[in-house]
Amino acid sequence: MKKLATVLILSMIVTSAVYAAESGEDLFYKRCTACHSSALSMGKKKDEIMWKSTIKRMKKHGASISSQETEAIADFLSGKK
Ligand code: HEC
Repeated sequence: MKKLATVLILSMIVTSAVYAAESGEDLFYKRCTACHSSALSMGKKKDEIMWKSTIKRMKKHGASISSQETEAIADFLSGKK
């Protein structure tokens, strides 16, 4: 019984983590508009690798972005038209 409860609780935590995950677009507007406008990024064309290195540089400027968020934002920015 105790084991079942543990499994249930763990699966609830995992599920809520998945649902709490924000899209790259949401994260971009949250994390990337504090120091300069979103237009600065939206007007640039870079591939995913270039965006990742740009985001790394932003972290050096003081942006707080996790590696998971870096992936999502780079994915969004390289995929936009
Ligand atoms: C802590 C402040 C800060 C945050 C937050 C920030 N930036 Fe910047 N950004 C800067 C500064 C300072 C510059 C100019 C110096 C430079 O280019 O490194 C810049 C320049 C840029 C440029 C123009 C230069 C280039 O490489 O094309 C882009 C694009 C950019 N940022 C994208 C982003 C993205 C995407 C995010 C979110 C992941 C972000 N920034 C978050 C400070 C910030």
